Amino acid sequence: MSAFPPPPTLEPAQAEESHLTKGLVRLTMVCNERCPFCNVPAEDFPAAPTPEEVIDGQIAALLAEGGRTLTISGGEPTLLRRRLLNTIRRARAAGVPLVELQTNAILITPDYAAAMAEAGLTSAFVSLLSHVPEHHDLLAGLDGAFPRCLAGLDALLAAGVRVTLNPVLAAPTQTLLPDYLRFVAERLPGVRSVSVSAVQPHGRARANLHLLPDYALLGPAVREAQGLAAALGIELLNPYCGLPLCVGWADAQDRSVEALEAEIGGAKALNIQNEHNKRQGAPCLRCALRTRCGGAWVEYWAERGGSGLEAPLRAAPPWSLEAADPGAQVISDTLDTLRSDDAPTRWWHTAALAPGDAARLLGSAATDLALRLDPQDRATLIELRRLQRAQAEASPQLRRRVWLWIDTTGHDEAQVLELARLAAALDAHGLTLKGAAPRLRRALALALPSLHLELLP
Ligand SMILES: C[S@@+](CC[C@H](N)C(=O)[O-])C[C@H]1O[C@@H](n2cnc3c(N)ncnc32)[C@H](O)[C@@H]1O
Ligand code: SF4
Repeated sequence: MSAFPPPPTLEPAQAEESHLTKGLVRLTMVCNERCPFCNVPAEDFPAAPTPEEVIDGQIAALLAEGGRTLTISGGEPTLLRRRLLNTIRRARAAGVPLVELQTNAILITPDYAAAMAEAGLTSAFVSLLSHVPEHHDLLAGLDGAFPRCLAGLDALLAAGVRVTLNPVLAAPTQTLLPDYLRFVAERLPGVRSVSVSAVQPHGRARANLHLLPDYALLGPAVREAQGLAAALGIELLNPYCGLPLCVGWADAQDRSVEALEAEIGGAKALNIQNEHNKRQGAPCLRCALRTRCGGAWVEYWAERGGSGLEAPLRAAPPWSLEAADPGAQVISDTLDTLRSDDAPTRWWHTAALAPGDAARLLGSAATDLALRLDPQDRATLIELRRLQRAQAEASPQLRRRVWLWIDTTGHDEAQVLELARLAAALDAHGLTLKGAAPRLRRALALALPSLHLELLP
């Protein structure tokens, strides 16, 4: 019997859904596997274990911040048995309700698992990298790791520890998630939750970018897995540092950590871009979900050219000939009537800005400004500059997107180009030019590649 009262009953999704209430300690950076994608490879860190007083300080800090889950990771924390059991015990005794172990599980025997449960361990996050033994061993960098990981999982489940699996999808496994789930349902029926992470381009993975999955192949596999998981009673999660919403998560935002945290708001949620390691790109320009998605890893855009990324729900400004998708947006002529649960994209449609409108826009629920701009209207231009300055430091998905409509009827080519440059200088995302000659499209697109351009007769 555990010496600690059972933790409050939480469904796996509740326990995992927010990284905002989690704290991480790394017991040691030494590891007994050599995953070619490891984001914290042993060779980049000192071999000495983290001193116990440092860990105690981290536990105290977690509690002081109102945290709920202590994640014990590494390296491989099970290499230091006594220290690991002590850490679990001390965290629970200090009042941490949930203690999670991140492990490759290959050292976990029934006796070790029982000792951890007795110490107060509540969940384990296990790197079962594939259901295909050769793939698992390749990705773990260790021959024979697969049966040892399964034995460790059996031991954890038998000890009553709740298990979430982490397959870390990579190029060799990117289409196999549905088969992985079938394997889990049959071989590990005690597992009710799988965190659908994919290789992030950090640490050793930076030198092995060929392991990055191709989202054009991964996306369909994730979508198929969503239905299958529901039928099998397995909860799928899109973790922090996870997949863009268009890679199988557009219809499962309630299980997608970045989308949930973007909705909650607050200082930490500003980190939806993962410390600027992610960014949005051309396919995101019309994406109605872009305020809830960090986009893709910067390296993904460079390495895979954005393959498989495509707006799952498209927005369009009020004047556009391009249709918006049903449910994508609402449009209002008054700012105050917009509500944050109206639709993912919420347009404020106006023809002029008055002093103070930039601040009102930033304080409102509007996500996008659709402005029919008269380029001679200096007051509006000044307010647009004010808006641009006010949100220069914000992550792109939190910025209010600006789309401009300009009547260029009767303007010559040079004047049209100048107006388009003005729009780009004001950080506009989209530009609609009424009356511009269609032959100007190429020159405009070449001069301003990051603007979504529309020419209306
Ligand atoms: C660094 S490991 C340490 C814990 C333990 N040794 C293990 O393998 O589970 C922590 C977690 O990060 C995951 N991970 C490591 N490198 C990653 C990467 N490049 N992308 C995504 N997840 C990664 C692992 O699978 C594991 O779930
Ligand atoms: S913002 Fe970009 S990466 Fe995210 S769902 Fe939309 S199109 Fe995909």
